[in-house]
Order: sequence, then C-alpha cells, then structure tokens
Amino acid sequence: MRVLVIGSGAREHALCTALRADPAVVGVVCAPGNAGTDTVAESRPVDASDPASIADLAAAVAADLVVIGPEVPLVAGAADAVRGKGIACFGPSGPAAMLEGSKDFAKAVMAAAAVPTAASRSCHRVADIAAALALFGPPYVVKDDGLAAGKGVVVTPDRAVAEAHGRSIIAAGGSILVEEFLAGPEVSLFAVTDGETIVPLLPAQDFKRIGDGDTGPNTGGMGAYCPLPWLPSGFVDDVVAQVLRPTVAEMARRGTPYTGLLYAGLVLTAAGPRVIEFNARFGDPETQVVLALLDSPLGGLLYAAATGALAGHPPLRWIDQYAVTVVLAAAGYPGAPRTGDAVLGAEAEGILHAGTRRGADGQILVSSGRVLSVTATGHDLAAARSVAYERVSTVDFADMQFRTDIAAAAVRGDITIPA
Ligand code: AMP
Ligand code: GLY
Repeated sequence: MRVLVIGSGAREHALCTALRADPAVVGVVCAPGNAGTDTVAESRPVDASDPASIADLAAAVAADLVVIGPEVPLVAGAADAVRGKGIACFGPSGPAAMLEGSKDFAKAVMAAAAVPTAASRSCHRVADIAAALALFGPPYVVKDDGLAAGKGVVVTPDRAVAEAHGRSIIAAGGSILVEEFLAGPEVSLFAVTDGETIVPLLPAQDFKRIGDGDTGPNTGGMGAYCPLPWLPSGFVDDVVAQVLRPTVAEMARRGTPYTGLLYAGLVLTAAGPRVIEFNARFGDPETQVVLALLDSPLGGLLYAAATGALAGHPPLRWIDQYAVTVVLAAAGYPGAPRTGDAVLGAEAEGILHAGTRRGADGQILVSSGRVLSVTATGHDLAAARSVAYERVSTVDFADMQFRTDIAAAAVRGDITIPA
C-alpha cells in the first residue's frame, strides 16, 4: 500500500519511519514534511489546513491510506474529504474531531458517558470569569475552549494571571473553561479505534512546561518516555473501561462515530484517573517514544482502523525496552521562535526532525519552535535516558533550548500517585 502522511513535525517523521518499516507499505509520501521526513518519504507541498488540498493530493499520489498527523486539518474535515474520494483515512471526521476541537463539547460527551474528568465551568462572557475562578479556588486552571497548539492552558496560583488569560481569549472572540485543579502525575494514553474495537498503545508521559522541574510556560511538549514503570497494574484496562470505551460508544450513539487515534490526557488522582483533555490524533512528542517500541507493522494497524477491520487485527507486539525523547527547541520558543539558524549533527541515529528545512546549499536550518526530537531506546529507563542525552550532546544550533530532566524523576523512582 501507498501511504500519505499529513504534517511536518517529529511525530510525522516517526510515523513515516515506522510506516516505511512495514513490509506491506511500498511507498510513503509526506506533506508538507520537513528536512528529516524527506530522507524516509517523498515530500510534497500541501496546504495542511485545507481539506480539499489534502484530498486532491491523496488522489494525485494514488494513496491507499492517508494518515493525518495534526488536529487542525482533522477539525476542518480533512478525513471526510479524503474518504469522499474513496480513499481510506486514519483520522476522525470533522464532527468527531470536536472531541479535541472544543473542550466544552468534550465535557458534554464525558458527562453523557459518565467518564471521570475535572469539574469545570464554561465562560462565554468576561463577567462570568470571576465567579468561576472563585468556585474552584487556586491553583487556577483556565483553558481556551478551542484549538491553541498546546498553549491554550494556564495553570497558576495567581488569580490576576488566570483572569487575564480568560479575558484575552474571550476578547479575541473565544470562550473558556475554568477547571478544578487535579493533583497527580500525568499520563498520555493513545488508543487506535475503528469506532468499535479499541486497541490501546503503551502509556507515555509528556513534559509540557518549557523549563526543568516543570517551570515556565506550557509548550507543545518538551520530551516524553514510555512505558511508565510506576503505573499500577491494570491501569490500561481501567482507562479502556472507564474512559475510552464509554467515549467511543457515546460518539457512535450521537451519530458521529469516532475512528482514528483517541488520545486521553489523564491525571492520576487519589480518586483514580481523571481526563484533562482528549486529542483527536497522535500526541507529539509521545508518538516518538511509543512508535520506537512498537514491533507490529504500523501500516497494517492504521489501515485496519481506517477500514473498520480492527476486530480481526492480531494483538500488538511491543519491544521489551524503554524509550526516551528529548525535544530541542529554538531560541524564543514557546513565544516567537527565532528561525534560520544552522543545525549541526541532525542527521544522526535517533534524531527525528520537526522544525527543520533545507537551505539552498542543502544545509539544515531551524524553521519553527520545536526543531528536533532526539530519541533513544534502552533495556531500562536509565539506559534509554542516558543514550538520548548523549545524542543531544552531538547536536548544536544557536541558543538551543532543552530540558535536562526528561524521565529523571521516573528513573529515581520519585513519582507517586496521591493516596
Ligand atoms: P492540556 O492542553 O489540556 O493538556 O493542558 C496542558 C497542561 O496543563 C496539562 O498537561 C497539565 O499539566 C495542565 N493541566 C490541564 N488541566 C489541568 C487540571 N485540571 N489540573 C491540573 N493541571 C492541568
Ligand atoms: N503532547 C501533547 C500533545 O500532543 O498535545
């Protein structure tokens, strides 16, 4: 089969690499791609925010399967447009992708399906913010209802900062969710689904803040590791039963069946796992570590999900190791990243590209905030972590930013679920 992957991040570089390793996949095209995907896939231009542009490209490259990486095209209806051409697509319909596209919608689905999640109030008017903040108290959690590239959430003890975030979103024409703060470690659990059968992948942990020790502003994600040695046994089965299965059933009941990748962002509280967000696609950077350990052919799995055939798919096989990825970000990220700097050492093993492009002389240049995702596996987490950081030390660009503590607390055995 020929596969078209839409997107340009390290997630897409990881997807293209895994698809190419599937013997059933004869060709991979990535659009628009980056300086790394062009070494494992054919690069094609596309307007990734335009469903028609994606569907036309899928037909033009004779794709048998389209895999849509980012949320923006999914919410815009790209999967519907591709399926409209009679081409299989891994990704939810536009209406189903609203599980990520509107936090209000996701809360309504969770309420109807009795899925455990943080209590919240939605505010459409500035006048409502103060009462919502007072209801939950500090630390305050204020979320943009709509898509915000991982930067729509502010968690702060400072009421004025929380209120200002809410005001700026509403002033720009949006609405917000004010949420109860949940204490506990976070887990990202991905599941592949065809709308009925649910196949969970390995749980992973992401690091959202820019700075070591979870300091500074939220980002798209600064690193990840998997699997999580500190999880209680039965965790994945519990989340499938309490979160994923009821959510997929409720989406089907509403006449908007959910297919593709369902990403549950969870906090492990004293009262059990609670959903803090759903995403409608593979997470970045968690995908880089999850796929590093997937031993089953990826193309076959995604094609089965896209064609309603997951029930007949063999159980997934995993490499019995650990994986760690460290994101290298440009100066200025997550604000306005500086672009154009030369990147040295980016073509070595384990280095997945995100914000890179080739200059006129073929040199690799920084093109957006998250530049590379440096990935390694090992027989234990400490080994994977140390190889990942050795690889980081061989890469250089001006004012490169990265966290030095990815997976460190887990290696120390320092992660505890509140009792
Ligand atoms: P999200 O974009 O919804 O994943 O939120 C970004 C980050 O904000 C999460 O990864 C958490 O670290 C934090 N966060 C979101 N919601 C909550 C909550 N209800 N309680 C505590 N932290 C939260
Ligand atoms: N890793 C967070 C996300 O993909 O949204």
